[in-house]
Amino acid sequence: MSVDTLVSSDLDLFSDEVLLDPYPHFAELREKSSVVRMDANGIWALTRYDTIRDAMANWAVFSSNKIAFNDRMNEVLVGTTLTTDPPDHQKMRAVLSENLSPRALRRLKGEIDAKADAKVAALVEKGSFDAMDDLARALPLQVVADLIGVQGEPRENILRWGEAAFNVLGPMNPRTAENFPVAGELFGWAHGVRAEDLTEGSMGRAIFDAADRGEIPHETCGMIIHQYVAAGMDTTIASIGNAIAQFAAHPEQFDLVRQDPSLISAAFNEVLRYEPPVNTWGRLVKEDVEVDGTLIPAGSRVAVLLGSGNRDPRHYENPDAFQVRRNPADHLSFGYGVHGCAGQGLARLEAFAVIGALARRVRRYEVGQPERVINNMTRSLDKLPVVEVDPA
Ligand code: HEM
Repeated sequence: MSVDTLVSSDLDLFSDEVLLDPYPHFAELREKSSVVRMDANGIWALTRYDTIRDAMANWAVFSSNKIAFNDRMNEVLVGTTLTTDPPDHQKMRAVLSENLSPRALRRLKGEIDAKADAKVAALVEKGSFDAMDDLARALPLQVVADLIGVQGEPRENILRWGEAAFNVLGPMNPRTAENFPVAGELFGWAHGVRAEDLTEGSMGRAIFDAADRGEIPHETCGMIIHQYVAAGMDTTIASIGNAIAQFAAHPEQFDLVRQDPSLISAAFNEVLRYEPPVNTWGRLVKEDVEVDGTLIPAGSRVAVLLGSGNRDPRHYENPDAFQVRRNPADHLSFGYGVHGCAGQGLARLEAFAVIGALARRVRRYEVGQPERVINNMTRSLDKLPVVEVDPA
């Protein structure tokens, strides 16, 4: 293709303006082209559903070796499941996801449902609360910390660590630089923690037991614990907060779920499609590749705009409408292909538990002005005041 037909933009994908409200910008880029050269970021963006999915399926060309948008972090991530391509990826992922398999998760369902139900019951009784601190953060913190068996002081740090772990994946802007020391604390703790620091009977202990039995190398224990905290906190928090916010903004959609709880899974798919916890994710182009008529040279860095693909009218009818009956199980928010989210079963358990408890215990609720937290990679609310609850 000739250079004069190349589509480019000087939008900074990681500016406050875009992170706060990406969808109008995504729509503009998407209508320009499925492939846009982002001059301010020195990367290429894939904007349309099919293009993104095809790229994520094509791991040999769109490699995971560099998923972060700064080189320092890509160095740190060398050798992790997230940044290793097949064939080595498969074995590493099997070890990482053993404790996240449907069989392992079945054992957790009752406990997670009970934790969510107790929290929602207490908050309904209280009548007003912050849905982010009291529910969207409180549940994943309790679930993940209990699962790993984290006790004492490190537990207090998990929320801070989880947020930093995503901020440092951005380009080297001030947010990334400030968060390196905090992300480093998580890395140091996860790689230094010993079996006896973790609660007896926890999954964290089980990981060390597996190493003692020679089933996995000892050095992978820290890596697994690190990835569970780094990948599993901020994303799940964002998704639960987004669910609570969307049901408040669309009470008629909440009514549909209350009247038919079999819609909970479909409703969560729609929350994830409509407001992905991670909008932008990285890949490294390993060889010259032509995408929809545009040549992306080998060595280029690509941003897959998951949140743009999820709102592509070529794939979803009326994509800017929030409709729980749509059931978009093929949304891009958990990624696609070999690296597709290893923790999605756990995220679903937590979100279903919260949505289920709300649907049982609440008829209607009113929220005040939500506040956003700006993170380079995760898009989440910081505060969501629930000002009035009408119990079911
Ligand atoms: C709603 C919540 C979540 C969202 C939206 C989400 C999103 C994603 C995405 C987009 C990827 C793909 C990365 C890529 O292709 O490079 C991914 C991978 C991953 N996720 Fe999640 N995630 C969530 C929850 C969790 C949880 C709870 C855990 C673990 C406890 C987890 C662990 C992982 C791991 C380990 C990978 C890497 C898998 C691999 O490289 O093979 N995630 N996630």
